[in-house]
Amino acid sequence: MTTDTKQLRVAMAEVSARVEAAMYADLDIRLTGSDQLLREVVEYALFSGGKRIRPFLCVLGSRCCGRDDTDLYILAAAFEYLHTATLMHDDVVDHASLRRGRETVVQRYSLEDAILAGDWLHAHSLYVVGKLTGADGLDIFCAATEAMVNGEFVQKRLSGDCRASEEEYFAVVRQKTGNLIASSCALGALYAGAECAKVQSLQHYGEQIGIAFQIVDDLLDYTGKGESTGKELGNDFKEGKVTLPLIRTLESADSDERRRIVKLMQGNRTAPGAQEAIVSYMHRLGGFQSAAKTAQSYIDRAIQALAPFTADPAACLPAALLHELASFILVRQK
Ligand code: IPE
Ligand code: IPE
Ligand code: MG
Ligand code: MG
Repeated sequence: MTTDTKQLRVAMAEVSARVEAAMYADLDIRLTGSDQLLREVVEYALFSGGKRIRPFLCVLGSRCCGRDDTDLYILAAAFEYLHTATLMHDDVVDHASLRRGRETVVQRYSLEDAILAGDWLHAHSLYVVGKLTGADGLDIFCAATEAMVNGEFVQKRLSGDCRASEEEYFAVVRQKTGNLIASSCALGALYAGAECAKVQSLQHYGEQIGIAFQIVDDLLDYTGKGESTGKELGNDFKEGKVTLPLIRTLESADSDERRRIVKLMQGNRTAPGAQEAIVSYMHRLGGFQSAAKTAQSYIDRAIQALAPFTADPAACLPAALLHELASFILVRQK
């Protein structure tokens, strides 16, 4: 571990602890008198070892623009509320049974509980963002959430379709993941009262790391280790998702290889050996390497977007952490 990554780990642990304390206090007030099971499901989903990247970005976005106070951690918590709500629903959509190393809410409780507790967290996230950033903040936050749902619809429409283009893939990724990560950064800046150019720079940084984050997630779905990701490997193939490693593999395939890959995608994807066969094509045709290289290019662009902050003595410390976080996203194993 280099000194810089150590600094990042320390900062992430410090922010996570403060955000978690804010969440406990906030939920204690907001869930008083609520149904016992609602509280249990919300707490099960929230306090289960997530990386807390979105709250971290919100806090660092605000620090880059000169503000750090108690309410910032509640605003940051709103991103974890929304993120957790979307994961609960995403696990229903993706038929996933493992999340953060344990049963998904839908698996452990029920479909109804996953939907309803997700709705509660979504509603509560809106309440917090509205209260702390007003209509301008809600504008950004709601646009990101609406885009996320649209991205999931497009992804569903493209499922199993090997003709899905790279443009379509990036549109999905930008919408389902990039926008929320971008809005975490932007709302931090907005909360700090930053000028428009700074909000935009941070938003751009967030969008670029968000896209890279999803590319890496898509790589880890094939190449990761279950004990690190805390999710079932191979779920994307099982669900017929056409992600960047597959698109790049198809691009390099000759017509015979392409026909065989399409057959695997359109056949019984849970058949013994199907997953191994597709992974072997991806390795052989360079799909993993090519997707990783593209993730790197998004990270490079994100780092460039930090220039106004790295040049500012008052912001260079949080900006250095954002730089470090961008690099970490590429090598993350969970
Ligand atoms: C998972 O997000 C969903 C994606 C956008 C890929 P994270 O990888 O941030 O999940 P947690 O919160 O750390 O579990
Ligand atoms: C991100 O996509 C999901 C959301 C934006 C909610 P994935 O479906 O790939 O995320 P994981 O792999 O389940 O965490
Ligand atoms: Mg999923
Ligand atoms: Mg995934």
